[in-house]
Parts: sequence; C-alpha cells; structure tokens
Amino acid sequence: MNKYIKQEYQKKINELKKHNKFYYENSSPVISDSEYDKLKKKVLNLEKKHNFLKSNFSPAKIVGFKPSKNFAKYKHREKMLSLSNAFDEKDLINFEKKIFNFLNEKTDLNYSVEPKIDGISASLTYKNGVLIYGVSRGDGIEGEVITENLKTIKDIPHKVTNNNFPKDIEIRGEVYINKDDFQKIKANFANPRNAASGSLRQKDSKETSKIPLKFIAYTFGFISENKFKNQSDFLKELKLWGFLTSEHNKVINSINELVNIHQQFEKKRFDLKYDIDGLVYKVNNLQLQRRLGFTSNAPRWAIAHKFSADHAYSEILNIDIQVGRTGALTPVAKVKPVNIGGVVVSNATLHNEDEILRKDIRIGDTVKIERAGDVIPHVLEVDFNKRKKKLSKFIFPTKCPSCGSNTEKEYNKITKKFDAVRRCTNEGFVCEKIAIEKIKHFISKDAINIDGLGKKVVEKFWDLNLIKFPQDIFNLNYQKISSLDGWGSQSVSNLKFSIENSKDVTLDKFIFSLGIRHIGMENAKIIADFTKTIKNFFNIAKKNKIKDLINIDGIGETQIKSLEKFFQNKANIKVVENLSEILKIKDREINKKGKLKNKSFMFTGKLQNISRAEAKSLIEENSGSIVSSVTKKLDYLVIGKKPTNRKLEQAKQLGIRILTQKEWFDLLN
Ligand code: IVH
Repeated sequence: MNKYIKQEYQKKINELKKHNKFYYENSSPVISDSEYDKLKKKVLNLEKKHNFLKSNFSPAKIVGFKPSKNFAKYKHREKMLSLSNAFDEKDLINFEKKIFNFLNEKTDLNYSVEPKIDGISASLTYKNGVLIYGVSRGDGIEGEVITENLKTIKDIPHKVTNNNFPKDIEIRGEVYINKDDFQKIKANFANPRNAASGSLRQKDSKETSKIPLKFIAYTFGFISENKFKNQSDFLKELKLWGFLTSEHNKVINSINELVNIHQQFEKKRFDLKYDIDGLVYKVNNLQLQRRLGFTSNAPRWAIAHKFSADHAYSEILNIDIQVGRTGALTPVAKVKPVNIGGVVVSNATLHNEDEILRKDIRIGDTVKIERAGDVIPHVLEVDFNKRKKKLSKFIFPTKCPSCGSNTEKEYNKITKKFDAVRRCTNEGFVCEKIAIEKIKHFISKDAINIDGLGKKVVEKFWDLNLIKFPQDIFNLNYQKISSLDGWGSQSVSNLKFSIENSKDVTLDKFIFSLGIRHIGMENAKIIADFTKTIKNFFNIAKKNKIKDLINIDGIGETQIKSLEKFFQNKANIKVVENLSEILKIKDREINKKGKLKNKSFMFTGKLQNISRAEAKSLIEENSGSIVSSVTKKLDYLVIGKKPTNRKLEQAKQLGIRILTQKEWFDLLN
C-alpha cells in the first residue's frame, strides 16, 4: 500500500518538476495556473496525510525554480519568499488567529492592503543610491542577475538621490505588462505574466526593451537603516524616492473590511490597468512583522487573498452572433479581457436567444463569467447593481448574420415548446459561416481526420478561395500555398501527405464527416451497418428511400427528416458524389465472429485504467454493441466506480446481468 502511495507521490512530484521547468525556465507553461495550483495542493495533501512522503522538490520546500544556467547567480541577502494563500473569510480568521497565538496577545491589527499584481517579482540592490544589481527571484535563495534587462524598464530609477534613501537596500516589487500593451503582443503569450517573464529572461537586453514592461515596488529585502514604523509609511516613501507604487494601496483594520474590499476588487479588477490575481494583506506595523518572522516558505505577517480561479466579472463590450455548422445562432459576449485562473478571457458564450432574454443581458452590463475546466467560458449572470442607466434591451437578429436568410426556432411536438436555439434555415453551402463550419467538421479527428489542416488553416484557405467545398481539399493549389507566409516546403509536403492519407476512410466515418444534423458518430455507425456500402448509402439518398431507414433500431423521425433535408439540397448531393469518387470508402464489415456477437452492453460509473472510448471500441471490435439506455434489449450492464444507482436499479428490475469491470474483462479474454 505504502509503495503504491510513494509511487503516486513521486509521479506527482515529477509532474511538478516538469511544469516548474516549463514555467520558470522556459517561461511558457503548458497548463493553467489553477491546474498547477491543484497539482501543488494534491502533493501537499498527500504529504499531510502520509508523513513518510518526502522530497526535496516538495512545494513546501521550494518557492520557485533553480536559477537558469544562462545568467549569473546572486544570493539574496534576505530570502525572497512566497505568500500563503487565503480563499475565504474563514482562511483570514485563521490567519489572524495564528498571529495572535504566535504573539501570545490579542492586539488591534492594521493591514496594508495591496493588489497582488500578477507579474514576476524582482529585487533591486541600491548602494549609495545607485542601482547595482537587479535580480530575479529564482528559488527564493538565489536569483539570476538580470540587471541590464531590468534597467530597460522606465519605472526603475537607476539612481536615487533623496537624503533619507538607505545607503544599502534591496527594493522589491513586481515586473508586469499593462493589459492594453499585452493586447498588442498577445499572439505570442498565454497571459501578461508569461509575457513579462519571457521578456525579462532574454539574453539580450535589447529584446527586453522592445516589450513595454512596468515595475511596481512594494517591499524591501535587506535594508541598512529602517526608520519606518509601518509598511504604509514605507510605501509612501517609495513614491517620494521615485518608484511607482500601486494607486490602490490602502490601510484597513478589520477582517470584515478585508472581505468587503476583496469583493469590491473582484468586481472591478477587469477595469484595472494591470492584471491582479488577488489582494495582499500585510500586518502594517513593521515592528510586529519582525516579531512574527517567517515559516519555512512564507511570512507569518502577510497573506494573499486570491480571486476565484473559475469566475470573474467583466463588462460586455458587444454581442456577436456566431453561426454554427447546423445553422444555430450562438450569441457570444465580447468582454473586457479578464484573467480567470491564468487564462485571459475576452469571449464568453451566452448560449442562445432565450438565455439572453431570461437573464436580461445587455451590451454594457457587468456580468459574472465562469471558466471551469475545459468548458467554454460562459456568462452566468448580470450584476444588476452595476447596470448603467439607459442600456437598451438586446434585440436578437431574425435574419442570419452570415447569409441574410430567415431564421427559425423549431417547434418540438413532444414538449410542445419552441426550441431555445434560433437557426439559419439555409442548408448546403450557400451560407458562408455554415459552409466553413461544415468543412471544419469534415476534417476533424473523428471524421476524415486530416492532421496539419487545422481550423485556422481552413479559415485562411477559405478566404483565399482555395477551399469552398470539402472536395476542394483534394484538389488544392499547392503552388499558391507554397507562396503563402509560414508555408515552407516541408509543411506543404506534410499537408499533402496527410490529405493523401485521409483518403482511406470507413463508411461510418464518411457518413459522420458529412456533418448532417442529428447524425452523430453513433447514428453514422448504425446507418453504415445497415447500408454497408457507399453505393447503397448514396442510392438510398438519391432514390428517395431515406424513409426505409426508419426500420433501423436507433434511427427516428428526427434523423430521417434531417437526412431528407440534407439530400434535398443539390450542393450536398454533389459533395457526396464527388467525395465518393475521390475517397477510398471502405465497405462496412461487421465482425460476425467476435466473442460478444449479438450482445449489447452499457457502462455506468468510472472505469479503471481504460477510457470509455477505448472500452466502447473493445466491445465493437468483438462484435458487441453499445446501447444508451437500460431496456430489455440490454444484455450486460458493466459497472465502474460510483455507478448511477438508477441504472443499477432498473437493470436489477429487468433481470439484466450486471458485471464488474473485471468480470467484463474476463468475458473478453
Ligand atoms: S510581498 C515575503 N506584495 O506575489 C512577501 N508580493 O506569492 C513577499 N506579489 O512573490 C511578497 N504583489 O511576486 C508582495 N503587493 C505585493 C505583491 C506581491 C504581487 C507577488 C510577488 C510574490 C508573490 C507571492
């Protein structure tokens, strides 16, 4: 058991090491900040639970990452530590409680409240008023000497002549990029902090000077003479010495007020000039700070009150209407860019017309946006307290913004309701936006699968009139492509190769690739099983025999109608005709000899060491089939971890055999 835990732990530590390198050494993280924080938390939790787990790379021990070999090293005279995080009021109360315990007394505390600027910290050593070293944080103990790069930043004084400026001082603060400036260079970086980090670590300071970096000062490391009573006094003095400090710094004296101010900032941070990912609260009295001191990696006298990693507020600048492959009109809010858990969000979906009406969302509103996991950011609600006067209701277009055709909301006979989604009624390739989306679907992984022909390339080729229909992909003007920016001979030949490769396709994938509404992968397989050859499939369509498909289990009226609509369109018929000549479409062969022949399966719960997709294909390879509901026709219900109780109950009632994952494997083997 312990061996397994150790292995798990080591795996996570290795993962952390890898991401540390991406983040600190290469300045180009491959996961979002919140994902990174989650990983860190998992490691810390494991250590908490099992005290035999130890590693020199534990996030409890290291702050950042070892300085890179590209730069000379500098040992900080005072360590550059990190801050512990608080997420809610409870964490803040706890933070204060620990302070009182440590001091062994309950005093009235003032806090210096400062925005937690989301940049890269740097330490500037001044001797007799002259900047002699500029250093990165590195691992908190040793940093990299990046003086020349830091000197390119206009906010950093090279000389300070004030009489009261300490003779020897390390001034610390944050290097960052204003959001507006980031918009100009965003193609190369995930967020402003990565941009700042990447530019700071250039070998040639001329490169650094090209990026409009800024510096806000907020603390000191080593200091030869410290006559200041409070952190807030020091901040004021920094300004007089010529350093930029945050215009949002404040002094606050109760946890209640800290919670209040945090809420205020959460709602206005999108309007700030720079990215902040929380607020920093520091015990204002420097004497108390000295008494409190540090734990192994953070001061006892300060805490970072972070913003949520999955939601933020921003203002709607405009509402765009996007047209999807099936004609659905999706409203998308263009918002002031806001950083949610390390990802800069400037678009958030509003789902559909009804959703806008129901939530009364208007251009100019301040809204709460959620971005969780891989889900597309979406607008949760309007902050009506912030609603400006005279905002007019949003009027949803009734004509398709792409082709001008009429749009409609379908009526559902069963629910007796109109669909929430409005759709363009154009079928085929006349509506430009629908056509582009159809082509993107055609080349996608589950369809024809053409590597090297991504969505962006399709858009570009569309604009250049290189592709207007799926069949055009197989007759590209490679000479023209070779002359395009970014297309070298190697990438052109790679593209040729993968297009050629994609010609071998199975009938089910081909049917799916046509992008017919309501014909997803499952239905495409069912239709392919029935029609078996492309010739049969095409004949059924051409000879108006689509209704025959109604006899197939799984195909209903909706699918039939959709197929009929598709094949009533001449352009679609031409697409199928041309493609069936160009492609080598394999007949559907059903493995009649498989072990699971004529047996149907359903999964519930999480399977171990195998994805649902793999499990499904294992069943299909062995001639079994997957069904989507528990009915008498189901032969086996395979249960993983945390199965759905309702499904289990239904299966038991119908007397269906229930298999554990192991039993199912045994059946296969
Ligand atoms: S004080 C020992 N003040 O947050 C305390 N840090 O997680 C040192 N940061 O490394 C930090 N704004 O990069 C402090 N007003 C502020 C800050 C700030 C941003 C960053 C800094 C630090 C990190 C801590």
